[in-house]
Amino acid sequence: MNRTTRRMGKGILGLFFGAALAVLALPAEGQGGGEALYKTKCAGCHGADGKGQTAVGKANNIRDLGSADVQAQGDDAIAGIISGGKGKMPAYGKSLKADQIKDLVAYIRTLKK
Ligand code: HEC
Repeated sequence: MNRTTRRMGKGILGLFFGAALAVLALPAEGQGGGEALYKTKCAGCHGADGKGQTAVGKANNIRDLGSADVQAQGDDAIAGIISGGKGKMPAYGKSLKADQIKDLVAYIRTLKK
C-alpha cells in the first residue's frame, strides 16, 4: 500500500461514517422531541410501547396509552393529566414546558391502535 491508497482509504472510511451518522440522526429528528422525552421520563412506568406492562404499571393498573379509552380523551385532558398528575402518576407541570407536554401528547397519539 503506498501513501495515496492509504489516504484514499481514510477518505472512504470518513464517507462511510458520515453516511452512517446521517442515517442514525434522521429518525430522531423526524419524530420530534416527544419520543425522546417519553423514553426518558415516562417509559419507566408506562413501558416503551405505552402498554404499561411494567412493575409500576401492573401494580397500578395503568391503562394502555394507545387504547381507545385513553385516546378518546382530548389533547387538553391528556396534557392536564401530564401536567397535574393523577393518582400515582407524578405531575410534570413544573419540570416540563408547555411545549414539551404538547410534544408528549403528540407522541401518545402515535401509540393509537
Ligand atoms: C411513577 C410512574 C409514572 C411515570 C414516571 C409516569 N406515569 Fe403516567 N401514569 C402513571 C399511573 C400510575 C397512571 C394511572 C393514574 C390513575 O389512573 O390513577 C398514569 C396515567 C397516565 C395518563 C392517563 C392515562 C389514562 O388512563 O387516561 C397519561 C396520559 C400519562 N400517565 C402520561 C404520562 C407521561 C406523558 C409521562 C412522562 C412525562 C408519564 N405518564 C410518567 C404512572 C406514571
